[in-house]
Amino acid sequence: MSKLGVYDVAVRYGKVPALTDVTLTIEEGERLFISGPNGAGKSSLLKAICGAVATSHGRIEVDGDLLTGRTPEAIARLGLTMVPEGRDIFGTLTVEENLRVGTGIRRDKSAVENDIEEVYENFAILGERRHANAGALSGGQQQMLAIGRGLMTNPKLMLVDEPSLGLAPNIVDQVYETLVNLQKDRGLTLIIVEQSSARAARVGGRMVLLRGGSVVGDGDAKKFAESDVLNEAYFGTDKAEASS
Ligand SMILES: Nc1ncnc2c1ncn2[C@@H]1O[C@H](COP(=O)(O)OP(=O)(O)OP(=O)(O)O)[C@@H](O)[C@H]1O
Ligand SMILES: [Mg+2]
Repeated sequence: MSKLGVYDVAVRYGKVPALTDVTLTIEEGERLFISGPNGAGKSSLLKAICGAVATSHGRIEVDGDLLTGRTPEAIARLGLTMVPEGRDIFGTLTVEENLRVGTGIRRDKSAVENDIEEVYENFAILGERRHANAGALSGGQQQMLAIGRGLMTNPKLMLVDEPSLGLAPNIVDQVYETLVNLQKDRGLTLIIVEQSSARAARVGGRMVLLRGGSVVGDGDAKKFAESDVLNEAYFGTDKAEASS
């Protein structure tokens, strides 16, 4: 059984179709990059998986459990966590307060403390700056905090939307190193939205290419980086575009 199965999924915002007939499966422990041009539906796909937007068609399953109709909280309890685009850090709260957001309802108070300590073990800089306002962190540190917050729910499946956005290349390297290490240590299944196919190829993994709300490619990221499929997805024209 696949860790995650997305079958014939469609998402629309009013009359605007964002995803049509998207089908993909991911095995446990796999690393999958989602790539494609702006507006391709990458974020919508992640939001549909974590329950932040409703699907208008199709089904999504984690470990064979149907997600349709479940609240985002119920989906999170199945071991799925999302690190959203733009990170959603609370700038006026401290680093530690950010980590505690959402843990108030947890009854296992000592486990919360352990989870926080574990985040600090993974990200030493966050431990050093635990009482600093999150808004005072650098972009890379804020990305680490967003990932750290995602880890607070002890996920098995982590969705990360454009972790490299707005970061200098060497900081992006650090973020990816951390993600790859977390994957090794915890056996996480990782889905990462990454615009740069070259970056995805360097980190290594599988890549799914979206365009206009549909899957137009699925394969090894390294092979994609060398193929024309990618150019076609980013720069190719279709009838809809040509006539508009
Ligand atoms: N809240 C919304 N309301 C209406 N339309 C939306 C909304 N969010 C996204 N869309 C539309 O859905 C389509 C897919 O958007 P989405 O954000 O999923 O793309 P993306 O691939 O993540 O793009 P980007 O690379 O810019 O982040 C786009 O046409 C977008 O304009
Ligand atoms: Mg997006």
